[in-house]
Amino acid sequence: MNEDKKIAGFSKLSKTEKIHWLAQNFLYNNPIQVAKEFATFWHDNIEEQKLFDGFSENTITNFYLPFGIAPNFKINNKMYAIPMVTEESSVVAAASNAAKFWLDRGGFTSTVLNTIKIGQVHFNYKGSTEKLKSYFPELKEALILGSKDITANMEKRGGGIVDIELLDMTSKLENYFQLRCSFQTCDSMGANFINSVLERFGQLLIELISSNDLFTYQEKEVKVIMCILSNYTPDCVVRSMVSCPVKDLGVVDGMPAEEFAEKFVQAVKIAIIDPYRATTHNKGIMNGIDSVIIATGNDFRAVESCAHTYASRSGSYSSLTDASIENGIFKFWIEIPLALGTVGGLTALHPLAKKSMELLGTPNASELMMITATVGLAQNFGAVKALTTSGIQQGHMKMHLSNIMMSLQATEEELSKAKEYFKDKVISFNAAREFLVSIRNRAYSH
Ligand code: MEV
Repeated sequence: MNEDKKIAGFSKLSKTEKIHWLAQNFLYNNPIQVAKEFATFWHDNIEEQKLFDGFSENTITNFYLPFGIAPNFKINNKMYAIPMVTEESSVVAAASNAAKFWLDRGGFTSTVLNTIKIGQVHFNYKGSTEKLKSYFPELKEALILGSKDITANMEKRGGGIVDIELLDMTSKLENYFQLRCSFQTCDSMGANFINSVLERFGQLLIELISSNDLFTYQEKEVKVIMCILSNYTPDCVVRSMVSCPVKDLGVVDGMPAEEFAEKFVQAVKIAIIDPYRATTHNKGIMNGIDSVIIATGNDFRAVESCAHTYASRSGSYSSLTDASIENGIFKFWIEIPLALGTVGGLTALHPLAKKSMELLGTPNASELMMITATVGLAQNFGAVKALTTSGIQQGHMKMHLSNIMMSLQATEEELSKAKEYFKDKVISFNAAREFLVSIRNRAYSH
């Protein structure tokens, strides 16, 4: 194996040294030139750049993503202009269109159903299960008492440990037990708080059992495997909804209201029963949700993994949204777990996450849950509306055409000519290039 590119102490090199090493070993280019290219994306302000560098490790530059705004969101009678960070074209446009569509029909309503977070202490115990179960009430009290120094502040804010359960998992894995703990973490996402409490529980569990004469010598050998929060939070759920009389949907992209409503509900029902469609359907929802989560500095990986587990809770992967028509009323809603924080973490550190929070009126965690779920619902409405009427390609291809023309250095005038020309034609890179060449030739020959 060729290991000449192996390096020790990469993290200790300065940013420029790291880039030089990359230029020599992987980019095969002049280090000065490569450094210049990466430096184009550095922040002018050295202090700000230090802040960005500190978010992660081995940083050599910044990776830009568009920060867009979806205006006209009315949620629980309050207006929002919602920041969205995404690299995918049409996402912000679709969310904005859906927001405007529902603004004219009363807006969205949203409710937080609960806000419980979960953590686990996984451990091995080889003794009598009955004995452990009988000792558990005393153990639970001792665990809560023994972690007071960590929980006191959170309790002052109205949160803390909600419950601890002992789960006998030995039928699935030999000697395996679990403490499943639930927490209230107020406006923080709470990962650090939960993990600190869990690690204390792990220590106490070993100490308390090994020093208790109820247990035999062998039973005292409790082994803690790991202590960590669970990103699955099925009791930290928010529901957002829209509804209106079917007739008030109006003619949707040329389709009469009744036909649209029926097709739309069918499309959602298909996503409920078919995992292949559900995956794409939910991907569309997450287009909106992730964009808000990134813009506000929350953890989109945690939200993603949780959403998909929740979507599988029936045993089969299903849609996160549902829709109905009853007594002439069209209803469309989402129910999704969102463990978000508005204090601590990146929210308060990243200058643009801070700005996003300001734009949203400095929401608390529950409000942010409602805003984010609503964007997911709007995004799904936009996608399913397009899919069941004009098809998704029309909008996509318009954006695609703009991107192609931009890559060919087309002027504004050339772009608008291209938009007109391709209104009723299939767009491809070659077709766009040929069109551009033809109008330039024509202009040249005049
Ligand atoms: C594309 O990013 C998302 C959609 O495919 C979602 C959907 O099909 O519902 C348009």
